[in-house]
Amino acid sequence: MSDGITLHPVSWPPAPIRTERLVLRASEARDRAAFIELLASPEVHTYLGGPRQRDELERELPGVPERWPGSFVVELDGVMIGQILLRRASQRHRPAAVGKADLGYLFLPRAWGSGYAAEACAAALDWFDGVLPGEPVVLATQTANVGSLRLAAKLGFTEVERFHAWDAEQWLGLRPPVS
Ligand SMILES: CC(C)(COP(=O)(O)OP(=O)(O)OC[C@H]1O[C@@H](n2cnc3c(N)ncnc32)[C@H](O)[C@@H]1OP(=O)(O)O)[C@@H](O)C(=O)NCCC(=O)NCCS
Repeated sequence: MSDGITLHPVSWPPAPIRTERLVLRASEARDRAAFIELLASPEVHTYLGGPRQRDELERELPGVPERWPGSFVVELDGVMIGQILLRRASQRHRPAAVGKADLGYLFLPRAWGSGYAAEACAAALDWFDGVLPGEPVVLATQTANVGSLRLAAKLGFTEVERFHAWDAEQWLGLRPPVS
């Protein structure tokens, strides 16, 4: 998920996006500890190639991590619970995905199982439809990542293909442009 390019041209950061329970916004310095927790979590990275080392993150993560167009912090009651990533799939991705907007999502385990990811991703996709109307969105996830596949289906993604990469079977889904 880290080899895409950002979603230019979009105006960034947008005004915070409010849903029933959550706020989506650009990252800030106060999110750094939550980013370290997210990126160092073995549970979060079970299907993502493994976590990063906490001490390396402590040393190397910028003061304001992951502040780029298409990277949303998801906040619940004023505290970061996850990240949503929308960026352009690069040449390293599947031919069917290259150049398209690609959705990714990472939530802290304590926030799983409450529908927060679905609520936040739906809001991010609404934002995307507003700033880049008529564009499809792709999503890649391991077929073993059952929770992620369920979420993708809820968000309107359907299968384009399955392929083998990074030592696992992968699923490429597409959400058609919203007319
Ligand atoms: C993938 C991931 C975001 C899914 O999180 P999630 O919390 O399961 O997803 P949702 O927001 O769709 O929540 C769904 C669950 O909340 C439950 N739920 C509880 N209250 C709810 C509510 N008010 N509204 C909707 N769902 C609710 C649903 O019943 C559902 O449970 P189920 O999966 O047991 O059926 C999370 O597992 C994660 O961050 N994984 C690590 C990162 C990763 O693998 N990312 C994928 C690659 S990009």
